[in-house]
Amino acid sequence: MPDSEFHPEFLSALREARHIAVLTGAGVSAESGVPTFRDALTGLWSKYDPMQLATPEAFARDPDTISRWYDERRLNVLKCKPNPAHLALAQWQQMLTEQGRTFTLITQNVDRLHQAAGSTSVIEIHGSLLEWRCQVTQRVFEYRGGAFPHYPMRSEAGGLLRPNVVWFGEALPEDAARAAEHAAGFCDVFISIGTSALVYPAAGYLHMAKASGAITAEINRDPTPATETVDYSMLGRAGGIMPALVVACAAAQGSR
Ligand code: OAD
Repeated sequence: MPDSEFHPEFLSALREARHIAVLTGAGVSAESGVPTFRDALTGLWSKYDPMQLATPEAFARDPDTISRWYDERRLNVLKCKPNPAHLALAQWQQMLTEQGRTFTLITQNVDRLHQAAGSTSVIEIHGSLLEWRCQVTQRVFEYRGGAFPHYPMRSEAGGLLRPNVVWFGEALPEDAARAAEHAAGFCDVFISIGTSALVYPAAGYLHMAKASGAITAEINRDPTPATETVDYSMLGRAGGIMPALVVACAAAQGSR
């Protein structure tokens, strides 16, 4: 996407912004080969409904199957590499920070690819596939090794280890939710990237930002319920648009 295709007023809003907040979803990791939640229900798992796998009730009923599914997804994510969208976001954060501006990255993704690309202080509102939490002590363990030797796993305290992700019907981690809401209410520009904008409360951050007077934008392969409400909509691949946007911002900043 050449710079000229970015709306000049959008580039100007980005140039003036003191605080930029970005919300990412599964579309940002799609080009890294991370299957979206629904795509992960293939092969042996195709007979399952997401509601049968991603709830606390499902884990209580069948911790063996649920642990196995999440461990398979964890192993797959460990093989994936950040793509140009992740790398551009990390580069943008560094650039804006050096200019004394703030950049907040909120993600619904549980794959840690933003951190692998170099992004820091990432707000993970849906947790991480690489972490497991003891149900007795609530202690969280990061695990990057091979497949667990058996399912379900237990901690040394004897508690069942569950994936440290947010399941249907569960609240977001308090600190992450507070930080995300603060960024949405405080930013000058809010950009939603690669998310279907369907799952709340994440989808609400855009509205929160707009209500607080921020300029809003969306970068997505397909139109979403947010497309009509944002100030600027850019349809296309995050891996193509994000690097071009960062280049355009750097050029706009340099020509001040
Ligand atoms: P979805 O799978 O619902 O939506 C992904 C969006 O990315 C879609 O709108 C696609 O059009 C778009 N997309 C796909 N490839 C893209 C690309 N290369 N560039 C740009 N956009 C692309 O994923 P999320 O919105 O992240 O929650 O889903 C939100 C939550 O729903 C997930 O975090 C998960 C799920 O239930 C929990 O696990 C709690």
